[in-house]
Amino acid sequence: APEPATLVIFGVTGDLSRRKLLSAVFGLWQDGLLGSAFNIVGVGRQEMTDEQFRDYAAEALKTSKETDAIQPGNLEKFRELLYYEYGDFATDEVYDRVGQQLDEAENAHGGRKNAVFYLSTPPSLFEPISAGLGRLGLQDESEGWRRIIIEKPFGTTLETARHLNDAIHGVWDESQVYRIDHYLGKETVQNLMAIRFGNAIFEPVWNRSYVDHVQITAAEDLGLEGRAGYYEEAGIIRDMLQNHLMQLFTLVAMEPPVAFDEGAIRDEKVKVLRAVKPIPASQVKFSAVRGQYGPGTLAGERVPGYREEPGVAEGSSTPTFVAIKLEIENWRWQGVPFFIRTGKRLPKKVTEIAVVFKKPPLGLFPGGLERNVLAFRIQPDEGVSLKFSSKTPGQENQLREVTMDFRYDAFGAGLESPYSRLVLDAMLGDATLFPREDEVDHAWQLVSGMLDAWEGKAAAEFPNYAAGSWGPEAADELMGPDRRWRRL
Ligand code: BG6
Repeated sequence: APEPATLVIFGVTGDLSRRKLLSAVFGLWQDGLLGSAFNIVGVGRQEMTDEQFRDYAAEALKTSKETDAIQPGNLEKFRELLYYEYGDFATDEVYDRVGQQLDEAENAHGGRKNAVFYLSTPPSLFEPISAGLGRLGLQDESEGWRRIIIEKPFGTTLETARHLNDAIHGVWDESQVYRIDHYLGKETVQNLMAIRFGNAIFEPVWNRSYVDHVQITAAEDLGLEGRAGYYEEAGIIRDMLQNHLMQLFTLVAMEPPVAFDEGAIRDEKVKVLRAVKPIPASQVKFSAVRGQYGPGTLAGERVPGYREEPGVAEGSSTPTFVAIKLEIENWRWQGVPFFIRTGKRLPKKVTEIAVVFKKPPLGLFPGGLERNVLAFRIQPDEGVSLKFSSKTPGQENQLREVTMDFRYDAFGAGLESPYSRLVLDAMLGDATLFPREDEVDHAWQLVSGMLDAWEGKAAAEFPNYAAGSWGPEAADELMGPDRRWRRL
């Protein structure tokens, strides 16, 4: 268990905290993973007493789908751990009171003043809050460790991300900074490394001699969920591609690390990002496709187009879909394209990574599968499957596609929230599952060309896919004549 510590959540009344974070932390506490001395200080701009905040949190826990079954009496006990501070994040008072809370926690626990500051706020507040904590000396580790977790998106462009990095480093040492990408907290995402590097049979074929291409899909049926204000600014590139999809890509493509530790793993992740052939603005039309959904039918229901969503500008050119082709210039992957697509209002929620192998050198039998596929089902229906061809019983040598399938059900337990794993890791001081500054920087470099080519330019083709479809046709053309997106 971590040492006695206080978790300070800025933006605690926000969406993420209400729907996911509080449940994740409650789950850790209920499972006894947070040690005996633990407190949460919620911080927000809204005026509330501790008691009102406890009611708020209890309500959030009871209504969130992500809360584990609450054992009798536990809600009452958990409430006692919660405190609240409010104020204007631009002034010093609120940080001063947070500092007092840490003093009180120390008195109560007789321990050190360890603290994790979780910035679950709109991105525009990352810098002011970090600076505010710094003005009051709350980053100082002389009386206990201090760490800061920063939500995504980390910056809005390469330049602003660098600026934010500099501002954060003006206060914190990189070893104190935990940039969160909740995809890395997913069990199935961690399993990518475990399966690749914990088995002998996959790595030998994991290269250009055997792999034809790799496809990564992160599809969502959801639309905006009332987040137009944020999404209009962000769009799919900042919301999904620069962070979550780049992380998935990196884990599939990286070289084996020399050890399973944060330095070695993050070094390999950066190395593969560095090897990706850049896509400058002038080349974007050959390597990327953007889309925005129009009205359509999803699960039998009519849904409005993006531009009809409340809060979206009439002629908005914000992309809600993107597909890209990446090429990696290194020994392992020369000539093997990686296709990545993600979008809102696609037919269903599914995230999958498919390693598609080369065709057999000689077609001896009729039928069967054109290419073997090893598919990692990140979510839902979590598992891994291998598709291959088998002879159909009978007099003829007719092949048919069959599947070997591993499902997480085999473990008999549900999967934890990604946030619980990541919060616990931050409290334990393990940054392995958090992107380092150079990783974030390289991921921004990779999407910069797209932002330059598309941003501020009217998208005459929008809307170019119907809600409930798999995205614009141009995304299919990106694959070339001989390859197809998998039907999921
Ligand atoms: C978030 C994005 O980071 O990830 C959302 O802001 C998106 O727009 C979500 O819906 C997807 O996460 P998950 O875990 O549901 O796949």
